[in-house]
Amino acid sequence: MSSMTSPNGEPLLFEISTPGARGVDLPPSDVPNVEMDPSFASFTETGLPEIGQMDVVRHYTHLSHRNFSVDDNFYPLGSCTMKYNPKVNEWAAGLGGFANLHPMQDEEDCQGALALLYHLRKHLEEIAGLDEVSLQPCAGAHGEWTALKVIRAYFKDHNQPKRRIVLAPDTAHGTNPASCAMCGAGVVTIKSRPDGLTDLEDLKKHLNDEVAAVMVTNPNTVGKFDSHIVEMAELVHAAGAFLYLDGANMNAILGIARPGDFGVDVMHYNTHKTFSTPHGCGGPGAGPIAVRKILAPYLPVPQVIQREGRYHWDHDRPKSIGKVRSFSGQFNVLVRAYAYIRACGAEGLRNVSESAILAANYIAQRIKHAYPLPYGPKEGQPMATNPCAHEFIAVPRSIIDRGVTIMDIAKNLIDRGFHPPTVHWPVHDCLMIEPTETESKSTLDAFCDALLEIAALSERDVEGLKQAPVNQPVRRLDEVGAARKPVLKWTAASV
Ligand SMILES: Cc1ncc(COP(=O)(O)O)c(C=O)c1O
Repeated sequence: MSSMTSPNGEPLLFEISTPGARGVDLPPSDVPNVEMDPSFASFTETGLPEIGQMDVVRHYTHLSHRNFSVDDNFYPLGSCTMKYNPKVNEWAAGLGGFANLHPMQDEEDCQGALALLYHLRKHLEEIAGLDEVSLQPCAGAHGEWTALKVIRAYFKDHNQPKRRIVLAPDTAHGTNPASCAMCGAGVVTIKSRPDGLTDLEDLKKHLNDEVAAVMVTNPNTVGKFDSHIVEMAELVHAAGAFLYLDGANMNAILGIARPGDFGVDVMHYNTHKTFSTPHGCGGPGAGPIAVRKILAPYLPVPQVIQREGRYHWDHDRPKSIGKVRSFSGQFNVLVRAYAYIRACGAEGLRNVSESAILAANYIAQRIKHAYPLPYGPKEGQPMATNPCAHEFIAVPRSIIDRGVTIMDIAKNLIDRGFHPPTVHWPVHDCLMIEPTETESKSTLDAFCDALLEIAALSERDVEGLKQAPVNQPVRRLDEVGAARKPVLKWTAASV
């Protein structure tokens, strides 16, 4: 076997290739050899590695041990809701009747799958407090885009084509303006106040008859529930526009507040966050959208419906924006979301949000003397005076002033076995911490202890903190080089 030359200590398959090694021995051919006309095919060396089966299995098993996942350890990645995914969801999604279903199966042969989609639709409508859900979009961002298309179709249909502006607060997730741009809508940024809530005076200045929608996240990306949301909805509606909710933070309000009740007209869910389906690195996800009745005719087709006790795909929606995704959307993610909702029940879902809020406030309270909260209580006051929702922002100014960067803190957390929180977003030099409801008090305490230990070390060993990570397969990477001169493909010369 060749030497371990790749940077993370695990040799590449190309490096362990041995000429003549095989993963499978095929039996001798029992049919006569036939000479092929060389013009039918070109015979060139593929250059693929030649390796025995055991070595391939070990290679991938070694790599899998280096993955970090929520099943390994705490993953408090703000805005991403990296909660534990109950294994029963996987069992449900893997059931033969779901996993082996062909998307073009006749409706009559897949009534169970259609029933699941229909009842998931109904649950999501109920949780949102809105009239109709489409399950088709396959990510949060895709849900935003689909919903904006629906809004656009509404205004075209109502002879208001000039409504093409979307207002979004300066703390909005990057996908919000990106989805607007992809829909051909102009985005105007609304200021946030020092307490992190949307500045209603600035909103008023920008509301006019060209505005199609105001896009808000509530609780917002600094972890605060905007208690002015009803007033905001009234302003938006008086200006003839729709209030859109980015529902990525639904984990904080399940069973406590319903978007439809606080004035939202249209929203997306991130089922892969709120309803515990595995996600990360771009997928797989599902981003159903929920709308009020007046927007329902424009939802994508097909819609799953129930008629006379049977379930059907309804394609007969003349005002629909059409299909936004092949077949029924991200079906296996939707099965997991349904399993989760049914397992929790109404009480359980409320408990999810209450526990997520409690966990975030607990951590914030324990660390805030070393990691102050710009949107939290004043120094010396308890969290109860200005609590956060399911996540919070900390800006450790005095640690940074000692020469320790946010990145140093993140790398030191990795050495201590924790996935770092989101960093530098939505404000510079911040940690955005979202523990979720699925962690024990001892895990939350271990994480707080690690952060406090790093804060203490910043007073006496800045250089030591800068060495992290020291116990991982790779040390600190050349981040500029990785962005400017990425090596994306193996060649013999790159070893
Ligand atoms: C607030 C917010 N909105 C939208 C999105 C986009 O969701 P998705 O990654 O499913 O496209 C995210 C994702 O992290 C988010 O945190």
